[in-house]
Amino acid sequence: MPKDLKELIQKLREIFQDDHINVDEVRELMESYRSNPEDWKKYAMFDKQGYTRNLVDEVKGKFNLIVLCWGKGHGSPIHDHSKSDCFMKMLQGELKETQFDWPKEEGREMTEKSHSTLKNNSVAYIHNKIGLHRVENVSHTECAVSLHLYSHPAQTCKVFDQCTGHIAEHELTFWSIDGKRTPKKTTASKENN
Ligand code: SIN
Repeated sequence: MPKDLKELIQKLREIFQDDHINVDEVRELMESYRSNPEDWKKYAMFDKQGYTRNLVDEVKGKFNLIVLCWGKGHGSPIHDHSKSDCFMKMLQGELKETQFDWPKEEGREMTEKSHSTLKNNSVAYIHNKIGLHRVENVSHTECAVSLHLYSHPAQTCKVFDQCTGHIAEHELTFWSIDGKRTPKKTTASKENN
């Protein structure tokens, strides 16, 4: 059992030296880490506007590890995971995960396949072969923090309109990297002023 986040990262780096990963092994390893806020508080940055993605560790082309901070009522759109395996471990609070099938045709409402509540220290897994999902902090009183591991990380994902199944491309950015806020993007017009 990893004694802290640092040791979890070391073990993940060892596992990801192989080109092929064993999903159960990664899931069990992440589950065996007991969340300790002292380990991850430096990455836990919240924003009023929506959930934040805070990069903790990455091995280029292999995986990245991200702390996601969810304020009250924050949620992700329905999205896919490109070629990634997505492991999602709860570090604090609870999140609702709703899974969907891929839309069969545009113009039709997407119906929920299943939903579950992810509780502290549990790990959920999803891949495009399983389907799509949306994640939400439905609490009006508590924030939530989760640790996401993506194999073969992508810079974009597809997002889906639940009412129509319409697909759009969405850029995946980081709110902070290694505990430091990433510079805000300035628009071309601002740069010219
Ligand atoms: C999620 O699984 O809902 C989080 C997606 C992300 O990495 O931004």
